[in-house]
Amino acid sequence: MKDNKFVLGVVGLGEGRSIISAILNSEYYTLGNICDLNEELCKLRCEEFHLERYTTSYEELLRDEAIDIIGIYTPDQFHAAHIRQALLAGKHVICTKPVLLGLTEAKELLECQQKSGKKVFIGQSTRFFESVLQQRKSYEAGVLGELVTLETHYKSDSRWFLDRPWSKKAGFSWMYNFMIHAVDLAVWYLPDIEEVFGYGVVSSNTKEFGLNVEDTLTFLVKDKSGIYATVEGAYATPCLNKEIEFPIECTIRGTKGISRGGYNQLVMYQKSLKDSLPEDKKCYALDAEPEEFFEDKTYRYDDKHPYYFRFEGETHHAGEYQNYIDYFAKALLAGETPLPDLKEGIHTIAIMEAMGRSLHTGAPVKVERILSEYGII
Ligand SMILES: NC(=O)c1ccc[n+]([C@@H]2O[C@H](COP(=O)([O-])OP(=O)(O)OC[C@H]3O[C@@H](n4cnc5c(N)ncnc54)[C@H](O)[C@@H]3O)[C@@H](O)[C@H]2O)c1
Repeated sequence: MKDNKFVLGVVGLGEGRSIISAILNSEYYTLGNICDLNEELCKLRCEEFHLERYTTSYEELLRDEAIDIIGIYTPDQFHAAHIRQALLAGKHVICTKPVLLGLTEAKELLECQQKSGKKVFIGQSTRFFESVLQQRKSYEAGVLGELVTLETHYKSDSRWFLDRPWSKKAGFSWMYNFMIHAVDLAVWYLPDIEEVFGYGVVSSNTKEFGLNVEDTLTFLVKDKSGIYATVEGAYATPCLNKEIEFPIECTIRGTKGISRGGYNQLVMYQKSLKDSLPEDKKCYALDAEPEEFFEDKTYRYDDKHPYYFRFEGETHHAGEYQNYIDYFAKALLAGETPLPDLKEGIHTIAIMEAMGRSLHTGAPVKVERILSEYGII
């Protein structure tokens, strides 16, 4: 720590740009150093954020004893190795999603983390977006009653992403790179998902890029109590205007209300039975549904747009990173484990592995079977 602040070093300066902004705006952190193999990018970030130093060597970043925490924003395929290296160097870790692209290294990585005594937090950023946070708060306050079902999706025409050279390398998939946001929202509400089933299509739009990965997908995921969620993704076809359908949405259908948290426009819609309603009126309200017994409201958070989207366009969303790094710091100070941690992140990857197998077998797949195959439970 330096001046009572955690010292955070960042590797991977594309998306890493958001965490640099978050660090510089946080009362809990000071920036240790930044690192990227691409020296031009290092210089660009130094200029952008008025920084004086950088390194092109991850090993050098890890050798810096002043650094307490490493923020990892390198391509998906490198996360496992970069987390392991950081833990062995005695650092806490914040790693962007997806934590892993498969479970081969999961057990060893968990053991490495447990041995190190350090925390690993997975930056599932969508959980930290304003409308999604507010939706969660209202759900936890009981405004929506008991959860009946959940619908989540991430749909965006993201063919632009295939210009990145690493999207063509083994391991890239729309599921792991994009759809994980929608999967994570389902996991957040249904932590005990035991079975999944789904269909997917490789459209000719994806094949044009020389890739053979499903770009349009629908899954059903079911938890141990029988509650299920639908999780959908579409990445290589035109999308509806966000006035009609947000790119990321989470709809909660509860016994007392319904709510939809949307992304990009910072809107949450909620309709719920008023808790204050006297018992005798409750039946009436349910039967007749008179408007006055319901709150039917769209909450807008437009004033927060500059906080969440600090750069040009809306592809970076630094406000979420601000929320999650500050949450991480508060958890460390309180001696608590920030979630999702490595264990939860790996469980989500097991759910995704089950989803992938269901796509190719056409049958429902049990998550526990996958976890035990890899010796994780
Ligand atoms: N919402 C989110 O949470 C969100 C959004 C976008 C991207 N991401 C994740 O962020 C990560 C990076 O994505 P991106 O879009 O910035 O990709 P990118 O290709 O633009 O950037 C990755 C950077 O990592 C650098 N790098 C690779 N190996 C390195 C090494 N060994 N040492 C130092 N630097 C190294 C590359 O030079 C590159 O600049 C991915 O895992 C992606 O899934 C998360």
